[in-house]
Amino acid sequence: MKIFVGTDIIEIDRIKDAVSNEKFINKIYTTKEISYCESTRNMKFQHYGARFAGKEATFKAISAFLTTPEKFAWKNIEITNKEDGKPQVEIINYEDEGLKNVNLEISLSHVKDYAVAYVTAYKE
Ligand SMILES: CC(C)(COP(=O)(O)OP(=O)(O)OC[C@H]1O[C@@H](n2cnc3c(N)ncnc32)[C@H](O)[C@@H]1OP(=O)(O)O)[C@@H](O)C(=O)NCCC(=O)NCCS
Repeated sequence: MKIFVGTDIIEIDRIKDAVSNEKFINKIYTTKEISYCESTRNMKFQHYGARFAGKEATFKAISAFLTTPEKFAWKNIEITNKEDGKPQVEIINYEDEGLKNVNLEISLSHVKDYAVAYVTAYKE
């Protein structure tokens, strides 16, 4: 089995500035992600930050599998939540032979000033 990991940390203040720009939001986040982040007033920037860190961490974890990384975009990674709140990450609208049968697991955490993400990518 091949296993790779990726991790990332981000300052919430940085994401707060960035998400005030609609162009940034639409370049980075999918419609489902925006809808989740906008659904809570208090934690909005932590949710955006966690998903940004989650995308960076995912890219780090899958980069060794990618055969055409230059074609990969932020919105090819989508992070959603199951009913119990557990996050899940999927690669969407992107075909790459190297990603066939790759499984992903993600974990997110945030406090007032920081968000972190950890991703594992594995393939039999
Ligand atoms: C769900 C829980 C783990 C979240 O932890 P927290 O310290 O409150 O918050 P964190 O900032 O670390 O994590 C928040 C993230 O946890 C993730 N999360 C939520 N529910 C989850 C679940 N059921 N499983 C895994 N991850 C979950 C989400 O990604 C969330 O961020 P998001 O809403 O932006 O997607 C916590 O509220 C909980 O229920 N803990 C149970 C503790 C317990 O039972 N302990 C006894 C045994 S150790």
